[in-house]
Amino acid sequence: MPDFSAGFPLSELADGGMVQGTAGGEDVMLARRGDEYFAVGAFCSHYHGPLAEGLLVGDTVRCPWHHACFSLRTGEALRAPALEPITRWRVEVKGNQLFVREKLAAHPSPRPVAGAPDSIVIVGGGAAGLAAADMLRREGYDGPLTMISADDFPPCDRPNLSKDYLAGTAQEEWIPLRPASYYEDQHIDLLLDSRVASLDLRQKRVTLADGGSRGYSALLIATGANPVQLVIPGATSGQVLYLRTFTDSKTIVARAGSAKQVVVVGASFIGLEVAASLRARDIDVHVVAPESVPLERVMGAEVGAFIRQVHEGHGVAFHLGQTIARVDGRTVTLSGGEVLEADFIVVGVGVRPVVEFAEKAGIQVDRGVSVDEHLETSEPGVFAAGDIARWPDPHTGERIRVEHWVVAERQGQVAARNMLGKRERFDAVPFFWSQHFDVAINYVGHAEKWDSISIDGSLGARDCAVSYKRGDRTLAVATVGRDIASLQSERLMEAGAASGGRRGA
Ligand SMILES: Cc1cc2nc3c(=O)[nH]c(=O)nc-3n(C[C@H](O)[C@H](O)[C@H](O)COP(=O)(O)OP(=O)(O)OC[C@H]3O[C@@H](n4cnc5c(N)ncnc54)[C@H](O)[C@@H]3O)c2cc1C
Ligand code: FES
Repeated sequence: MPDFSAGFPLSELADGGMVQGTAGGEDVMLARRGDEYFAVGAFCSHYHGPLAEGLLVGDTVRCPWHHACFSLRTGEALRAPALEPITRWRVEVKGNQLFVREKLAAHPSPRPVAGAPDSIVIVGGGAAGLAAADMLRREGYDGPLTMISADDFPPCDRPNLSKDYLAGTAQEEWIPLRPASYYEDQHIDLLLDSRVASLDLRQKRVTLADGGSRGYSALLIATGANPVQLVIPGATSGQVLYLRTFTDSKTIVARAGSAKQVVVVGASFIGLEVAASLRARDIDVHVVAPESVPLERVMGAEVGAFIRQVHEGHGVAFHLGQTIARVDGRTVTLSGGEVLEADFIVVGVGVRPVVEFAEKAGIQVDRGVSVDEHLETSEPGVFAAGDIARWPDPHTGERIRVEHWVVAERQGQVAARNMLGKRERFDAVPFFWSQHFDVAINYVGHAEKWDSISIDGSLGARDCAVSYKRGDRTLAVATVGRDIASLQSERLMEAGAASGGRRGA
C-alpha cells in the first residue's frame, strides 16, 4: 500500500484513475481527473465500501457496494445511502511526484435559506423521513422541523434488520442511522411512538392518534409500508412474526435464542434474508411459498433458481407451490399435506404502502401516493417520498412505485430540497441490493415485465450481469460479483433519460 505522504509517481495515476494508499497512518484514495488530483478518505461512510474500486463520474466518486456518491471537491455525500461526508486532504504536485499533505477543513455549513417554509413536518421516521430532515438542515433550513414516527425507535438501518443484525453479526449500536444527540443538536423535534391519524389540508395541520396536533407550512409524507398480514388457521398471534421495525427484529432474535426449527412463509427478499440469517444461528429453516421459483416475478427464473441453490447449499429447505393449511401447536401442516415442526413462523409475503390518512384527506392516490416529478402530491406544499410514492420515472416512462432503501433516501433528499423551493426533478435510476449468505445482488433500473433476459457471465461462478430487456431496450441489470458493471449500467441508464431517448443500457 503506497504511503502518499512520502510521494507517489504521477505516471502511475492515469486520467480517470484511482489508487488506494495511506497518509499519516490514515487510509486515503487518490484520484485524477484531467490535471486535477484529489485525495479523500478511502472508504465509504455508509458500510466502508472501498471507493478506489468504484466509479469516477466527473468530480465525484460512486461507491461500488450500494452506489453512494461523494464529491471529490468537498467530500460531501451527494447521494444516499451515505449520509456522512468523507475526509479530504490537500494534494501537492512536485516534479513528477504527488504528495498528500494536511487534512482540509470540513465543507462549511450553508447559510440559512431565504423564503423557506415557516415550519416543516415530516410524517415518518424511516429512510425517506430521516434523509429529508438531514438534507433540510444540510441545505441551511433553520426553521422548526418536526418528525413524527409511529416506530418506538429513532430512524434505523432497516436493511440490516433482516441481515447482519438478525444473523447476530451486527451490534445494536450500529442500527440507529443517527446517534440520539443528533436530533437535539440539529433541533429536530422527533416524536416517537406517535401515529398521525388525520390530515387537514385546509388548516395545514396533522392530528395524532393521541389527540395532539401540529401545524405545518410544508409537509412530507413518508409513511412507508406495512407487512401484509396473513390469516393462518390455528396459529396464535404470538406464533406468527413479521419484520419491519427494529422491535420486530429484536423479537425474532429473542425467540431465535431457544428455537431449533422455524418456518418462513414467503420466498420474498425479506423472507429469504430472514432464512439466511436464522441459518447463520444454526436454526433449521423451512421456506414455504406458493410460487415454484423464489423471486421469479422480480428476478426471473434463472436468478430465482440460483438463489434457491445458494440457500439450499446452506441447508435451507424449500416447500414451494404450497401454503400453510393449518397450525396446531408446533405442528404446521402444508397445503400439500406435508407436516413440519416450527418453534415460530416468520411471514414475509410483501408489504402495502401506508396511504390511509393521505387518501382520507383527499390527496390523490393510485396504489401509493401519486406525486409529480418534483415529488409533490396533488396538494401544493405536500410532498411524498419512499415506499408510498408513485412517481413518473423518466427511465421507463411509467409511473412506478418501488420498495428500495436507496430510492427512499434519495427521494427524501430531493423532496427536502423541493420543500425549500429548488424544483429539482427526481430522476435517479432505481437501485437496490439484497444479500443471501455470501452472495450480494445489485440491481439497477426497473423491470416489472420484460420479454427477454440475457446473462453475461455465469451465475454459478457468481460473476455475471443479467439484463432484463423489452425489445432492444435494457430496463434493468442485476449483477453478482460485478460491482463496476452495475455502476456503469446505472450511468448508461442516466444518460439514456438525460438524452430523452429512454434507451437504457
Ligand atoms: C427487514 C427489511 C430489510 C430490507 N432490506 C432492504 C435491502 O436490502 N435493500 C433495499 O433496497 N431495501 C430493503 N428494504 C426496504 C427498505 O427498508 C424500504 O424501502 C425503506 O425503508 C422505505 O423507506 P420509507 O421511508 O418509505 O419507509 P420506512 O423506512 O418504513 O419508514 C416509514 C416510517 O413511517 C412511520 N409511519 C407509518 N405510518 C405512520 C403514521 N400514520 N404516523 C406516523 N408515522 C407513521 C413508520 O413508523 C416509519 O417510521 C428492507 C426492508 C425491511 C423491512
Ligand atoms: S458501502 Fe458505500 S454505499 Fe454502501
